[in-house]
Amino acid sequence: MKGIILAGGLGTRLYPATLGVSKQLMPIYDKPMIYYPLSVLMLAEIKDILIIHSPHDHYSFRRILGDGSQLGITISYACQSEPRGIADAFNVAESFIDNDPVTLILGDNIFYGAGFKGLLNSTLQSNHGCTVFGYNVAEPERYGVASFDRNGCIERIVEKPKVAPSNIAITGLYIYDFSVSQRAKDLRFSKRGELEITDLNNSYLKDGKLKLAELPRGFAWLDTGTHESLMEASQFVRAVEKSQSLKIGCIEEVAFRNSWIDQKHLEALAKPLLKTQYGTYLQNLYSHDR
Ligand code: G1P
Repeated sequence: MKGIILAGGLGTRLYPATLGVSKQLMPIYDKPMIYYPLSVLMLAEIKDILIIHSPHDHYSFRRILGDGSQLGITISYACQSEPRGIADAFNVAESFIDNDPVTLILGDNIFYGAGFKGLLNSTLQSNHGCTVFGYNVAEPERYGVASFDRNGCIERIVEKPKVAPSNIAITGLYIYDFSVSQRAKDLRFSKRGELEITDLNNSYLKDGKLKLAELPRGFAWLDTGTHESLMEASQFVRAVEKSQSLKIGCIEEVAFRNSWIDQKHLEALAKPLLKTQYGTYLQNLYSHDR
């Protein structure tokens, strides 16, 4: 299983904050936004990861994450020259995917909840075709939304409907089988000029190969699409990290707990960060057996 983080786009909805920096590198409380989706792929034990970025951002991503070897993973990069929709990721990443199954996560999606690692691992193993994750939201019109038949089975996904057929939004985490590149090639541009992830998912659904996994009550899926929600996401992370003294989206911790790096490596990663609470957190991981 390979992993892709889509971190392209211009971040226009966050202008002027994102005029000089990629949206996915904006801080969410104490770390860059991309740490959160990267930690999700790492929790899913995916070690071969491609980051798709906009033309100007290659150096910044590489400066932060390098080739991934410090985390015991492999990170490669690909440039999306202009935003052509989420499903375009599979065209940009075709040679990386090389007909393997792949998990795509949007670089601005934050997931957090108990049992997530177990859910990811079992979902990955049982995937036949495509698996998407549904989440109950207050404003479904802002997302891809699941429509259900009378028996409660998903029958269609509708992208940003005027009138939502349900409150179940399709989150930005998608698991696909080997056929994804071919299916992406068959997509046509939508009215808004994008290759829609929802059209790709509906192609699996039509073939009876889409599974909807609903994220349970109490789980957090955070949006970072507006200044307001960006701030709320930071406040959420701060509140959880403060009360539990456990971090969300800490990529070094996931690497350590997955036994992809040893204590010596973790110490080396913590060293330049020791002026911060993030660094002392990493230090505590190896000095306390928790
Ligand atoms: C995109 C997808 C939408 C999905 C959402 C999740 O929307 O098109 O189906 O529900 O991501 O974050 P966008 O972020 O482009 O508005």
